[in-house]
Amino acid sequence: MQLRAKITGVASYFPEKKLGNQELEKMVDTNDAWIVERTGIRERRIAHAQESAGSMGAEASKRLLEQLGVSPEEIDLIIVTTVTPDHPFPATASVIQTEIGATRAWGFDISAACSGYLYGLEVARGMVESARSKKLLLVSSEKMSSIVDYQDRSTCILFGDAGTASLIEASEDESGILESIMRLDGTGLPSLYMPAGGSRLPTSEETVKARKHFAVQDGRAVYKRAVVDMAEISAEVLERAKVPIDQVRWFIPHQANLRIIESAAKRLNLPMDRVAVNIDRYANTTSATIPSCLAEKIEEGTAKKGDLILMASFGAGFTWGATLIRL
Ligand code: COA
Repeated sequence: MQLRAKITGVASYFPEKKLGNQELEKMVDTNDAWIVERTGIRERRIAHAQESAGSMGAEASKRLLEQLGVSPEEIDLIIVTTVTPDHPFPATASVIQTEIGATRAWGFDISAACSGYLYGLEVARGMVESARSKKLLLVSSEKMSSIVDYQDRSTCILFGDAGTASLIEASEDESGILESIMRLDGTGLPSLYMPAGGSRLPTSEETVKARKHFAVQDGRAVYKRAVVDMAEISAEVLERAKVPIDQVRWFIPHQANLRIIESAAKRLNLPMDRVAVNIDRYANTTSATIPSCLAEKIEEGTAKKGDLILMASFGAGFTWGATLIRL
């Protein structure tokens, strides 16, 4: 029998510390009204110095396993998606594995920026559907505050920190991942990246002085591509799955900018009351946005068993993708 992979649980962890727009007004030349009007963001969470992508991801994982009554020894594979790994090497999967005590798991990281969750889900799908993994932990966790330049008003307003964890297993009924498409266009690299700290431009006194260890982006270029590509790939996934848009209970787009979300929804003919939004409270948490929205909808009881959910992302790379699931 053909196996179908399924998200059997999802949990989030947000650091306690809130950073509101008013506080950013004291740090850079910006104001609350501009940020709300141009991005929809009101506040974001900021991890404390001892927290990392690994520790936040581990916290979300512990919550998830407790919620599901799954013991860490049952996990056979850990996939972490992050742009802020605890170390350049080894993978943050090592940190999660030891922190949660998943003694029988192997694991690795995926670097796909804001599309990390959907890319991770795609790999997880392959592992579960080929019966190579029975209980797979997909951790999407980001300490964006560690790579955001709080002197750059065009980026520091946009990002926040969060950790999430999802359990992927084989489905036992009609639920699960129905259709998905992933894309990559490397010509987009200069539009959103971290210039130094890798092998192309290793860390030096000069790179630090020149502030090259922060995320830089061409906001307008990213904006234009995000709207068009998220809407197009979503429509393509629905067409392949032969699912009309009006059957989709929730559209969960990556949370980069409320205007991007609204424009993509409009292109898809979707009213905003079927679009998940948490960017106002958490800003862009990179690969953690989609799973944190999904967790919220399940928790509030508006995403129920049998519901069709369409997820879409766009991010650095450029990477983008869309995945249709039945809960
Ligand atoms: N406060 C006040 N003014 C600001 C500002 C801030 N925080 N940031 C930029 N501005 C200014 C700019 O300097 C510019 O001034 P100028 O016209 O005098 O040059 C003006 O606002 C308009 O800038 P622009 O970049 O055109 O604004 P925008 O409406 O495109 O909004 C972003 C900027 C970054 C919010 C928007 O482009 C965006 O969200 N892009 C996508 C980002 C994204 O999704 N990134 C993650 C990828 S997944």
